[in-house]
Amino acid sequence: MLSLIITAAIFITPSHTFNHPFSSFSRSSIIQNTCDDHKVLSRTTVRGKFDCGAACGQDADCQRYLYCANNARCMLYLDGTDCIMNGDSTGCYCYSKAFGYTGTSITCPLGYYGNNCEFLYKDCHEAWENGVNIDGKFALMTIQPNASSKPFEVTCLLEYDGGSTVILFRTSICKHENFNRTMAEYEHGFGSVPLNRWIGLTKLRAIINYRTPDFEFRLHVLLFNTAWLPCSSFYLGFEVDNKLSKYSLDIAYKGDIPCGDSLTDLVGNPFSTYDSDHTGSNKCAQRFGGGWWFGNTPNCTKSFLTGTMDGSRVDNFWLDNLSGECLKKSVVFLMPYPN
Ligand SMILES: *[C@@H]1O[C@H](CO)[C@@H](O)[C@H](O)[C@H]1NC(C)=O
Ligand SMILES: *[C@@H]1O[C@H](CO)[C@@H](O)[C@H](O)[C@H]1NC(C)=O
Ligand SMILES: *[C@@H]1O[C@H](CO)[C@@H](O)[C@H](O)[C@H]1NC(C)=O
Ligand SMILES: *[C@@H]1O[C@H](CO)[C@@H](O)[C@H](O)[C@H]1NC(C)=O
Repeated sequence: MLSLIITAAIFITPSHTFNHPFSSFSRSSIIQNTCDDHKVLSRTTVRGKFDCGAACGQDADCQRYLYCANNARCMLYLDGTDCIMNGDSTGCYCYSKAFGYTGTSITCPLGYYGNNCEFLYKDCHEAWENGVNIDGKFALMTIQPNASSKPFEVTCLLEYDGGSTVILFRTSICKHENFNRTMAEYEHGFGSVPLNRWIGLTKLRAIINYRTPDFEFRLHVLLFNTAWLPCSSFYLGFEVDNKLSKYSLDIAYKGDIPCGDSLTDLVGNPFSTYDSDHTGSNKCAQRFGGGWWFGNTPNCTKSFLTGTMDGSRVDNFWLDNLSGECLKKSVVFLMPYPN
C-alpha cells in the first residue's frame, strides 16, 4: 500500500536530548460503514488538514485523525488505522500516526513500543501487562508472536481481563462481510468490515502455541441471542492442530457454560471450507458456507459462528442452549489465565 508521509509542525522548541522533533503520519483508508465503535477524542473545526494533523501530533493520546474539507471538521481518535464514515467522503482525509512526539512524550502505533517504536508486543496480553490500555472495549493492535515472521493486526479486548485477543468477531449491526471463503482465506484471516473479522488459523496457532508457560488461554465464547441478551461459555486447553492435521479442534475440558456447550462435540473434527471440505458426502461446508469444525455427519455441527447474519443463507447458531436463535453478535476470544 502506498503511504504518503507528511509531517505535522510541532510548535515548541525541540529538546536536544530527543532526536524526534516531529510526528509523522501515514495516509490510511476511509471505509464506508454505519457502525463505528471507535471513541472520538475530540471534534473541532480547523483551517485545513495540516492543522488537524498538528492537533493530533500535539496530543499524545491521538493515534489517528479524520479531516473533511466540506465542513472543516477535525476528529481525533484514540486508536485504529482506517477511518469509518457513513456518507459522502469527498474531501475527507484519514491519517494514522506512524510516530508521535509532543516535545515530552513519544507515541507509537498501538502494539509498537520503544524510543523509535522499534519493538512489537507478542499478543494483546503482553501489551496489557505493559500498561497499554484504551478507554473503550476493543482496540485494533499490531502484534508479532514469536512464531510469526510478519506483524499483523488483531482486535484486542483490553478492558478488564488481562488483555484478550479476539479470534472471531461478528455483529449484525455493521454492513455484511462475506464469511463464505476459501481455506487459504481462513488460514490467512480476513475482515475489512468493522467488527467483522476472522483472525486466521495460522495467526491463531502462532498466538496459542508460543505463549509463556506461566499462563494459559481460555477460549471464551460470548453470544447475543435474537433479543440481544448475552451469555458466555468458556473452555480450557483449546488447541488447533497444524495444517497437516487439517487444523483439527482440541479442547481439554469445559469451564463455566451459561450459554451451554456446543463445541465439545466437535473435538477431533478437521476445519472445513467449501473448497477444502472434510465431511465427505455430507458436504457440510459447501451447504453451510463459512469455515468451521464440521463433523462428517448429516447434522454437521451443533454450533456455527461463521454463517450469515442476515438470513440469506445458514445463519450463526449455537444449538445447546440457544436452539433456534439466530445470533445477533458473537465474540470468540483468547483470555489469558494464570497457571
Ligand atoms: C520469544 O522469543 C524471545 C526472544 O528469542 C524469548 O526470550 C521468549 O522467551 C520467546 N517467547 C516465547 C513465548 O516463546
Ligand atoms: C441446557 O439445556 C439442557 C437441556 O434442556 C439442560 O439440561 C442444561 O442444564 C442446559 N444448560 C445450561 C447451561 O443452560
Ligand atoms: C459458498 O461459496 C461457494 C463458492 O462460491 C459456493 O459454491 C457455495 O454455494 C457457497 N455456499 C453458501 C452456503 O453460500
Ligand atoms: C440430527 O438431527 C435430527 C433432526 O433434527 C435429530 O433428531 C438428531 O438427534 C440429530 N443427531 C445428532 C447426532 O445431533
